[in-house]
Parts: sequence; structure tokens; C-alpha cells
Amino acid sequence: MQKVNSYKIPSSGEARENLRKKGQFWTPDWIAEAMVDYVFADKGGILFDPAVGAGAFFRAAKLVAHEKKLPYSLSGMDIDSNALDEAIQFGLLKEDIKNVKIGDFIFQSPKDKLSAIVANPPYIRHHRISLEIKEKLKRLSMESAGILLDGRAGLHIYFLIRSLTLLEEGGRLAFIMPADTCEGKFSTDLWQWITKNFCLDAVVTFAPEASPFPDVDTNPLIFFISKELPKEKFVWAKCCESKTEMLKLWVRSGFSHASPNSITFCIRDLSEGLRTGLSRPPMTEKTGRYILGDFVHVVRGVATGANEFFFLTDEQVQQLGIPEEYFVRAIGRTRDVAAEEITQQTLDALRQKGRPTLLLSLNGEAFDDYPERLKKYLLDGEKLGLPQRPLISQRKPWYKTEIRNIPPFLFAYLGRRNVRFIRNTARIIPLTGFLCVYPKSEDREFVERLWKILNHPDTISNLALIGKSYGDGAVKVEPRALERLPIPDNVINASGLILQLRLFERQEPY
Ligand SMILES: C[S@@+](CC[C@H](N)C(=O)[O-])C[C@H]1O[C@@H](n2cnc3c(N)ncnc32)[C@H](O)[C@@H]1O
Repeated sequence: MQKVNSYKIPSSGEARENLRKKGQFWTPDWIAEAMVDYVFADKGGILFDPAVGAGAFFRAAKLVAHEKKLPYSLSGMDIDSNALDEAIQFGLLKEDIKNVKIGDFIFQSPKDKLSAIVANPPYIRHHRISLEIKEKLKRLSMESAGILLDGRAGLHIYFLIRSLTLLEEGGRLAFIMPADTCEGKFSTDLWQWITKNFCLDAVVTFAPEASPFPDVDTNPLIFFISKELPKEKFVWAKCCESKTEMLKLWVRSGFSHASPNSITFCIRDLSEGLRTGLSRPPMTEKTGRYILGDFVHVVRGVATGANEFFFLTDEQVQQLGIPEEYFVRAIGRTRDVAAEEITQQTLDALRQKGRPTLLLSLNGEAFDDYPERLKKYLLDGEKLGLPQRPLISQRKPWYKTEIRNIPPFLFAYLGRRNVRFIRNTARIIPLTGFLCVYPKSEDREFVERLWKILNHPDTISNLALIGKSYGDGAVKVEPRALERLPIPDNVINASGLILQLRLFERQEPY
């Protein structure tokens, strides 16, 4: 079959927004073929895709059935009939899509059980789903599967649950899903339900350079699940080569043979996999006895609720005539700190470039005690409706800003392979683009040794164990998760921090 580049890249912002609403991102052929290969096994049968779109899985089914000489037929659903026009343009015949029903899979799903389900479900996050639909989704999954999930589960999660409930005994399902499926708040409950009632055969993750959806801000995974008795082990793989035929061949070999240049895989204990998170590699000796929270505590940077009002440039402050004593020096964007240290020079360069570095810092003193210029500025803020803004409305008075001690270290927590600790030599306060990292002792030696630990490559690589993963290798780390960061024993030993810690404990507990 002719290969087409079936991944759809929206051309404009508006087009991208439309695609987002319907979750229309097409699966590339090399992924679709591997997934279909699994659900067809050596039997073939009726392939069901609950979200057919431009028909990537139907094309794959025709090819795989031909290669393996299997009997097959195609059926499915999609909410959007226009997508099927594209399916024809991409080479499917009218005959191929005649059993596709136009409708909502979740609420109008088929009555009969199915043997082979494959999908790239619409990735519609929970904040794009109305409260009414959310309630309906919850009720439906409670009734059909007996599972009640946290409200942050997106539509794709309900596609998975609904599809699993439709699987006949011995049937197979392959879904390509974003990593939040196993990193989200709801994921523990979801996977407990799945692994109690089904057999998780394999999970495939992708190295950033092999992502099936480059340029899309998600980290996709494929789940291979069968309606068999649950097993205690599953196969976990990382695909390192894009567009590789090897993925299909590895699936065809029963997840047992692959060239390590394309796919690395291992057998994992289900309990370990669920504990670590299915999107993450197994915990190895790199984890060790200590976590970062043994040495530091972590607080997020200051959230102002209106940076344009609270976070100003030197020039703006001069023009406003508000005395500088009402401000603290601050950094807003991770991009503003390219290096691993914020020095006075970093700050001076930002000021020269006209970047804001002054954060209004008011502690809720009596309004009448403020200088006239500051009072006027605050009254102007009221006229702009700032006190009614969501975050600001919770403060009393509304202009009282969050107070942070100066953190010796910052952590840039959302980045594309650029998550890192930063030494705060310039003694600034960070905004929410950063986390504040406070060592448990202010002793100079302790802080020095800690710095060695923070930027050690083995420490940094462990971030993947606790962060939420997005596209292109980006990870996002919340404060509590950062405190759970495992610090490898070799890194601890090399730093001499434990000796130091013991010394403190003998002297005075901090
Ligand atoms: C991510 S695309 C995948 C399409 C195709 N199967 C593929 O893999 O390339 C998801 C599809 O789901 C459809 N969709 C969105 N909401 C749906 C719903 N509630 N029921 C059925 N299909 C839906 C969209 O129109 C879109 O075509």
C-alpha cells in the first residue's frame, strides 16, 4: 500500500483550535500498522475504531490483513462526517467505510461486544468539556464499569474505559494516548481498574526524536490490552527510531524480537510499573536511599494574578514615581535565565533589555500610609477590575502580594530538555515559572555540597521519574513531586552531604 504522510499539521492558529476541539490528529501509518497487528493477532476479524477520522487504522488493517493473510472487516464511528471525506482522499474506498456510523462513540456506542478495538481517541482535556457532559461521562463510566474518576480525566480516558467494557473475552485493544493517562490525578484509580479486569500486555513509549506526533505538545504512549486474566508482568518498551517498520515486526513477534537501535524493551512487574508510572522507565539503582526532600523544601514562585500590573520594568517604576522600596527584584520567565546561575550581571542585562525585574511587594500595610503615587496606582488597578480577578479576589487587601524568602536555588520546572536548577546569586524572587528551593540548612558548606547534587546529570535524569511528560521531552514538575526526586547514591556519596548532615544532627538539629 502506498504510504501517505497521514499526520495532519494545522496551518494556522484558527485551524489548530478547530482541530483541538474535535481532537483531530491523525495517526502515522507506522504506528497504526503496529497497533492493528496486535489486535488482529493471528485471527483477523472485525476491526473497530471508535474515532475513525481519516482512516489511518482502516488503511493499516487492509495492509496487515493482506500481509498476514487474515480475514477481516472494518467498522467504526466518528462524530464528524467531514473526516470520512478525508479518509477517501487518503485512499480508502467507499466500501471500506460503509460500516462507519456518524455519532458520538461515548453516548451512542455499539451494543455488541467487539474482538479488536484500535484507537487514537480525541485528546480533549477536561477543561474543554462542559460540566454537564463531565457529569454524564462520570455517570456512564460508573454504570458501565463501576469506576468513578477524578474530574480531571479528559474525553480520551472515557474512550478507553468505554472501549474496554465493549471487549469480548479474549478480545484485544490498542490505544495511543497522551502520558496523562498514567500521570494524571485520576490515573491510579484508572489503572487499578484496568489491571484488575484486563491483561496489560505491553506499553510503548517514544524517545522525543521518535515521537509519532512531532510538534504536538504531548508525550504519546501505546497501550496493548487484552480481555484475558490479568498477569503480574508486562512488556515495557521505548521506541527510539521514528517511522520504523521494526515496531510492527516487534509486535508481530509477540513483543520478543527487536533491533535495540529501534526499540529497547524489558519485562516489568506490574506492581512496580504502576508505582513508578507506565510512562516512566523502571526504577533502577539510579534511585537510591535519599530523596531531594531530605535536604530541601520546595515552594512555587510568586503568583501575582496580573503580571502586567505587579511586575514592572525599571522605566515603568520611574515613570510611576513609586519608591523602589515597595518592590523586590524578581525574574518572570525561564527564558530570561539562560545559564545555571542568576548573577547581578544577568539582572543588569535584563534591565538594560527593558525586561521587567521589579515586583510590587506589599504586605497589606494601611492604605493611607502609602505614598500618594502608590495609592493612585492601586486605585487605577481597582478601576481596571483587578480585585475581581480569580486569584487576586482571594487576597485581603487585593494588592497584598505573596511573600517569599529569597531562595538560594531555583528550579525551572517546565522546559524542553531544559529543566534545571539555577543558583540564585543575584538574590531575586522568582515568579511562577520557577520553583523556590530552600536548603534545610543555611550552612555555607551544606549549600555548596547541595549545589553539586542538584546539577549532577544523574540527578537531572531522574526528573523523568517524577515529572509529568509533554511533547519533545519536556517535563513539568510540581513542588511536592520535586521533593520526591530520588537522588542516586553515587551522587550523594560524591557530594559528602551525608557526612555533613550527620555532623549537623550531632550539633544542632535544623
Ligand atoms: C485523534 S483523531 C484520530 C483519527 C484516526 N483514527 C487516526 O488515528 O488518525 C480522533 C477522531 O475522533 C473524532 N471524535 C471526536 N469526538 C468524538 C466522539 N465523541 N465520538 C466519535 N468520534 C469522535 C474526531 O472527529 C477525530 O476524527
